[in-house]
Amino acid sequence: MIEQIQEFKQAYSKSLISVSNPDQLNQLRTEFLGKKGHLPKMMKQLRELSPEEKRLAGKQVNEFKTEIENSLKEKLQEIESRPGSSTGESDFDITLPGRGDRSGTLHPITQVMDEIISVFFSLGFSVEEGPEIETDFYNFEALNIPKDHPARDMQDTFYVEDETVLRTHTSPVQIHVMEDWEPPLRIIAPGKVYRCDSDISHTPMFHQIEGLMVDEDISFGHLKGIMDIFVHEIFGKKTELRFRPSFFPFTCPSAEVDIQCVICSGKGCRVCSSTGWLEILGAGLVDPAVFQAVNYDPGKWTGLAFGLGIERIAMLKFGINDIRLFFDNDLRFLKQF
Ligand code: DAH
Repeated sequence: MIEQIQEFKQAYSKSLISVSNPDQLNQLRTEFLGKKGHLPKMMKQLRELSPEEKRLAGKQVNEFKTEIENSLKEKLQEIESRPGSSTGESDFDITLPGRGDRSGTLHPITQVMDEIISVFFSLGFSVEEGPEIETDFYNFEALNIPKDHPARDMQDTFYVEDETVLRTHTSPVQIHVMEDWEPPLRIIAPGKVYRCDSDISHTPMFHQIEGLMVDEDISFGHLKGIMDIFVHEIFGKKTELRFRPSFFPFTCPSAEVDIQCVICSGKGCRVCSSTGWLEILGAGLVDPAVFQAVNYDPGKWTGLAFGLGIERIAMLKFGINDIRLFFDNDLRFLKQF
C-alpha cells in the first residue's frame, strides 16, 4: 500500500508539471480526488489492512490528499495570473505584435465642413472666424434686422444678457470683417450657431458657413457662378440647382438655392415633399443698408453673400434623417464615416 502511494505521488507530480490550462487541471483533480479516483479507491482499500498498517497508510493517504488539494490550488492561481488567461488563450504569446488600436476619425460634420471650405478656398476665399457670443448690433442691427423682426423672438434666440446673444447665424462675421478690412474681399466664415429649437431636423447648436464677397460691379451672375461650382463639387456634376426668390433683411435681391432631390433625382419623394427639390442655402446681393452700417460707400461697392447649414448638407450627402445623430456620439454611427 505504501509503495502504491509512492507510485501515485510520482505519477501525480509528473502530470501536474504538464498541466497548462484549467481543463487539464480539472481532469487531474478527477483522476485523483474524484468519486472513482485513485485516492477514494485507496481509502476503501484501507479497510482491508491491519490496524497498525491502517494507521500508517491512512496517515500517508491523508497527507497526499492535502498535498494534492494545495498544489491544485497553487497551479490554478499560476494559470490564472498568466497574460491572456482571461481570454482563454493560455498559450498567449507576448512576443507577437499587437493587433493595433482603431485610430480616431474626423467627425462627419468636420469632414463636410473641410470639404466645403476647400471648394471656396480654391475660388480664392479666405477663412475667417468670429465670436459665438455676439452683441445685438452684430447679430441683428448691422445686418438690417430691425428690433421687431421675428428672428429676434425669444423662442429662437438664446439671450445671454439684454443686448448680448449666442449668435443665431454666422452672418455677423460679415460685419466684423468689413469693419476690419477695406474691399475688395472674399471670405467664408465657418462656425457654431445657436437657436432655441430641438427636433428631428433642429438642434440648439449647429454649424453654418457664411460667404461674403465685396468688390466693384458684383452681380447676381457672380453669385450664380459660385453656387454652380459649389453644388457641383459637393453633390456631383450632374446635380441641377435653381434659385428661388426669397427674403433676407441683409441681402437684396435675396434667393434660396435648391438642388435636385438627392434621394429621388427630382422625381418626387417623401424627403422632398414630392417637389423634386431640396433647399440648401440662402444667398443674395449685399443690401446697401449693411454697407452703411460698416461705413462702406454703397455707391462704390457691391457684394454677394450666402449662408448654409453644414448639418443639412451632411444629412443630404449621407442620407441621414435625424440631425440629432450627429451629436449623440454613438460610436456605431460615427464609425461609418
Ligand atoms: N443668416 C441666414 C440664416 O441663418 C442665412 C443667409 C441667408 C446668409 C442669406 C446670407 C444670405 O449671407 O445672403 O438663415
